[in-house]
Amino acid sequence: MTAPVPAERAAELREQLAYHGHRYYVLDDPVIGDDEYDTLLDELRAIEAEHPDLLTPDSPTQRVGGQPLDRLDKVRHLQPMLSLANARSEEELRAWVARMRNHLAREGIEASEFRYVAEPKIDGLAISLVYRDGVLERGATRGNGEIGEDVTHNLRTIPTIPLSIPDAPPLVEVRGEVYMSLPDFAALNERRAEQGLSTFMNPRNSAAGTIRQLDPKLAAERPLSMWCYGIGATEGISFSSHFEALQWLREHGFRVNADVKRLDSEEEVVRQCLAWQELRGGLDFEIDGVVVKVDEVELQRRLGVVGRDPRWAIAWKFPPTTTVTTLKGIEWNVGKFGDLHPFAVLEPVHVGGVTVKLATLHNEEDVARKDIRIGDQVIVLRAGDVIPQVLSPAPHAVEREDRSPVPLPPALCPSCGTPTVKPEGSVFTKCPNRGGCPGQQFQLLKHFASRGAMDIEGLGEERVLQLLRAELVRNAGDLYRLTAEQLTELEGFGEISAERLIAAIERSKDTPFGRVLFAIGIEGVGFVTGRSLAQQFGSIDALVAASPEQVAQTSGIGPIVAQLIHDQLAEPAMLELIADLRAQGLKFEAEGPPPGEGPLADTTFVLTGTLPDLTREEATERIVAAGGRVTSSVSRKTDYVVAGDSPGSKLEKAERLGVKVLDEPGLLALLEGAGQAQPS
Ligand code: IVH
Repeated sequence: MTAPVPAERAAELREQLAYHGHRYYVLDDPVIGDDEYDTLLDELRAIEAEHPDLLTPDSPTQRVGGQPLDRLDKVRHLQPMLSLANARSEEELRAWVARMRNHLAREGIEASEFRYVAEPKIDGLAISLVYRDGVLERGATRGNGEIGEDVTHNLRTIPTIPLSIPDAPPLVEVRGEVYMSLPDFAALNERRAEQGLSTFMNPRNSAAGTIRQLDPKLAAERPLSMWCYGIGATEGISFSSHFEALQWLREHGFRVNADVKRLDSEEEVVRQCLAWQELRGGLDFEIDGVVVKVDEVELQRRLGVVGRDPRWAIAWKFPPTTTVTTLKGIEWNVGKFGDLHPFAVLEPVHVGGVTVKLATLHNEEDVARKDIRIGDQVIVLRAGDVIPQVLSPAPHAVEREDRSPVPLPPALCPSCGTPTVKPEGSVFTKCPNRGGCPGQQFQLLKHFASRGAMDIEGLGEERVLQLLRAELVRNAGDLYRLTAEQLTELEGFGEISAERLIAAIERSKDTPFGRVLFAIGIEGVGFVTGRSLAQQFGSIDALVAASPEQVAQTSGIGPIVAQLIHDQLAEPAMLELIADLRAQGLKFEAEGPPPGEGPLADTTFVLTGTLPDLTREEATERIVAAGGRVTSSVSRKTDYVVAGDSPGSKLEKAERLGVKVLDEPGLLALLEGAGQAQPS
């Protein structure tokens, strides 16, 4: 017998390995043992080592092996990745079906009943995979739906994602959810705890955190998987129904949930949603609802998309989950203005698929009103993505004779040890050490750098903490004195990342006055009031000189808050900070037209849902810069409703009242027409 030609043998091994990998990971039905698999893999590795020209990107030996990246590239999806509107009850689900029927009827389509597909709504992160000529070319996160981040290096390490597909069309974009199973999540956290590393909050966070790592070795060590649920752009194939597309995915090696059903009527849909709710507890991955989609692609096309939400699909969300556990203790966090916020330390407990150890208790009056005592059995609520909260003691807990005393806020600040005070009328006990308390410094800086405020990219919670610990900063003014050299001394900073952060800090100097007012941390000044104050007074000097009565003339500010703002603006430390920031070049004067002037004067907008690119603050800012007004509720006086993802009832109301609806491009076009394409 002659020795096999290396190229042929390599191709054969790749095919066998792909087959066995699929049996093992996707079908969960292996036909060979792990040892045999490894032997095949070793043989292929040996051939490729000897003949590097035979190495192909879709070789199973190439799942891990890439070099760490120094950043994630942005990539545009070939077809936008949509999101989903929510239904929170059976009524809302039925209302969705009725809306679709009406919509089609208005288009003259008689479709009293259509077919549906009901799928679990997996709680992970959405991913899009591009296969060209059958080879995985690129995989990206959803991002804003149009542009995501290229995370191919990490996706390649996921064994349920095929590196190549057989009988492939020239192009197919495959969509699905990457997630971590509950047992894998538990094991990972256990390992991390043993190594003294921080643990992940829930499987979703750990999957998302892993996918965005720069070094693929990390992803390879963390067990991720993917369920596929859809197809984006294609060339050379098309489907007339969603169910058919899922079938195609399954046949081409992708993992599609076997319990996904095609359903013939609204009644079956409702029944299936309730059935998934029952199944939920027994699954080894987290689902937070059921996605119902219209099956016929032609009907999908006719129904179309509002903002980012297709009319032809909906997410039916499970009701929130509660459980009972023991309250081990109450601890206190210091807020931006010294408020002490209580939180519960719990006996770890599973709720809705995640382990909960901490929960919010809101404020001390809430604790007193609910009569929660340390040692009690308490009811814990976890709803969707929100922070778990303690609702009340369990009914039997309050009957016990030996309950501990009513918990009181600490007499000394847990961060700096200063004796605490309870201002009259406040629901919070406070640390009065403004400026000197590290807890407050941390919160203030974190807020200053945050997205809605100065939006300093790369200056998140961890970095702020690091800068404070290294004693490089104490307040916002210090940020502008940082140098790249100082940063490179710190762990986790290289030259590039240091330069990048300094540049981001420098860029923040362009932040408009209204946002600077919000960012510097004046109690009572939120994002909206910051903007109103900037418009009303035009400059910091005018604002500082204003009497409380004058401050109270500002829209949205009452006499009590006006007094509070006025008093803070008289504090020497605040004036010093303002002078410092002003000397550094931050904006303390308003730009743009005063109210009632500008191309969009007297035009009223309401924003609803999430816009693809602009944050709500950015959109507001641009409208205001053109002289327009943004209000929160839709009425006949509203000129435009700007609708993004998950727009909800405001959009419905706009449609009912006949108010004009814009999407983000529509808004940008309008602003451009008004000479305001770019923020000033
Ligand atoms: S379809 C119609 N199907 O839910 C196009 N999404 O709330 C929208 N998700 O971004 C996606 N399971 O991350 C679809 N079976 C499923 C899903 C699913 C989970 C996620 C996905 C999406 C989000 C929208």
